Parts: sequence; C-alpha cells; structure tokens
Amino acid sequence: MQEKLNNIYALASADIEKATSSSDLDEIRLKYLSRKGEFNSIKKGLKDLSDEEKRVVGSLANEITQKLETAIKTKYSEFYRKELDAKLEKDRIDITLPGQFSPRGKVHPITSTTNEIVSIFQSLGFSLVSPDKSPEVETEYYNFDMLNVPKDHPARDVQDTFYSNLAQNVVLRSQTSNAQIHAMESKNPPIKVISPGRVYRNENVNARKNNFFHQIEGLYIDKDITFGDLKGVLNEFIRIYFGSARPTRFRSSFFPFTEPSAEVDVQCIMCQGKGCRTCSGTGWLEVLGCGMVDVNVLKGVGIDPDVYSGFAFGMGVERLAMLKYAIDDIRLFFNNDKRFLEQFKN
Ligand code: DAH
Repeated sequence: MQEKLNNIYALASADIEKATSSSDLDEIRLKYLSRKGEFNSIKKGLKDLSDEEKRVVGSLANEITQKLETAIKTKYSEFYRKELDAKLEKDRIDITLPGQFSPRGKVHPITSTTNEIVSIFQSLGFSLVSPDKSPEVETEYYNFDMLNVPKDHPARDVQDTFYSNLAQNVVLRSQTSNAQIHAMESKNPPIKVISPGRVYRNENVNARKNNFFHQIEGLYIDKDITFGDLKGVLNEFIRIYFGSARPTRFRSSFFPFTEPSAEVDVQCIMCQGKGCRTCSGTGWLEVLGCGMVDVNVLKGVGIDPDVYSGFAFGMGVERLAMLKYAIDDIRLFFNNDKRFLEQFKN
C-alpha cells in the first residue's frame, strides 16, 4: 500500500511538473486530491489494515497529500500572475476612445423653486420646519378643526377634500396650514417658521389647477406683530423672488384662520394682464393667501392673544414657478416630459 501511495505521488508530481496553466492544475487537483480522486480511494482501504499499518500508511498519505497541495499552490500562484499579466496585456484600455455619454439629471423645477423660496425666507429670519413636523396624511383636527374651519365649511366636502377610507377623520391635507398648528403646539412664541409641502384637493384639473400641488406655509408669532409686518415681509419676498418689480395686488379676502385676511395676485406673465387661458381672462394669478392669525386659533393652541399676535401665509409653488418661467399650464410640472424638464438648468 505504501508503494502504491509513493507511485501515485510520483505520477502526480510529474503531472504537476508538466502542467502549463492554472486549468491544468485544476484538473490535477481533481484527479488526485478531490473526494473522488485517487488518494481518497486508497484512504478508504485503510480500514482493512492493522492498527500499526493504519498509522504508518495514514500518516504517509497525509504527508503526500500535503506536499502535493503545496506544490499545486506554488505553481498556481506562478501561473496566476503570468496569466493575469497576459490578460492585462491583451485587454489594454484604449484611452483615446471617446467616453460614454451619460446625461445628468436636473432638479425638478418645483423642487428648485421651493428651495429658492425657502432660502429667501431664511434670509428674512424664518427657519425651516422639518417635513415630519407637518404630515401630508393628516387628521381633520389639524387640517380643519384647529384652524377654526367650521364643521359645515364647504372646503370639508368630499368634493373638495380627499378623505381616507382607512380611518375616520383622516384626510390628505388640503393645505399646509396644518403646519401652523404643529409649530404652535411644539414651541412657545416667538415662532418664525416656514414649512413647504404637498397638498391635495379633489379639483377638476385645468391649466391652473391640479389635484395635488405644493405650498409653502409661513408663520410669525411674537409680541406686537402687525399687518404692516405681514405686508413688508411679503413685498420683500416678491421683490427678491421676481427680481424686478412685477405688478402685484393685495386683495382683501377671507380665511377662517386669519382676521383680517388677504390674497396676493401677481400679473399674469403670459398675457401681461390682458387676459388669457392661464389666468382665465382675469389678467392676474393668485399666488398666496395670508392674514393675521385668528384669535380663536391662538387660543386653541394656548397662546394668549392679549400678549402675542402674528401673521401667516400660504403660497402656491406651482403658481410662483409659472409666473417666473412663463409656464402656461400647471399640468406640465407633472407630466414628466423630458423636453419640458430639460429647460430648467440648475
Ligand atoms: N391655506 C390657504 C389655502 O390653501 C392659504 C392660506 C391663507 C394660508 C391664509 C395661510 C393664511 O397661512 O394665513 O388656500
């Protein structure tokens, strides 16, 4: 049996010697050292030997397999390096080939407009509320009740607001004004925040209206805040955002959560105020609602209206982007037509 082992060893060594590639070595390993290889079949015969013989033959077999393993390994690393060099030589990279063009994505105009508006308000001392502080899936409590919206207000109709059928009193928020309540609940005045986000309305879609869009809510609560402060901040915002003077108008209005309330219109850029499809013939586009925070709203969140006052506003991001870039249809923002999106360089 020892002789048999030595013979196989001699044969295997000769094979290793003759090998010319790593795949030759793979075959040799398979032939001699694998489970079905020659050594293993000899090892299986060990059980018929005496104890003494078992020890001698067994240790010889182990010694030989180890020697062969080492020989194969050493040779393998030689081949490996050579084969790798040859491969690298063959696969030379042609650095004169033109690179593959991969187009760069651009920030969506709604995102860039939001960022721009946010940074203007930051420069005016407002801080950004993190989005998890004003959820899009909201309770009626924050979207309406706490904002002093009466139970029978038409905005609460299912024709206007999307209700969840998963839980009672849960809506897709119809306005970012819910952020005001969350802000006032989580912090004492002074509060000076802005909160951008998406809102949903059960609208008939047209050039000016989509059933979801984006708003930026602002809230400033402190001692001695007046309507003059509100006008000053919004005029300053419009001046910075549009660059040069744009005809704008402050129009008195009504919202349940502000008293007095106003809306701001900016002259339609598509028709220069003459009236067109985008502004439905009025010459103006409404861009925001605002007002002095209603006493009932302050009381609801436990802020004393005799000590504090404040203003709030909610602006439409799409409308502001349309007016800046002369976009005549709000639906363009959501069709994801590359020809439209690629025009916004940023
Ligand atoms: N939430 C109102 C809307 O979506 C806009 C608005 C009006 C927001 C007055 C305000 C505000 O913060 O004070 O139409």
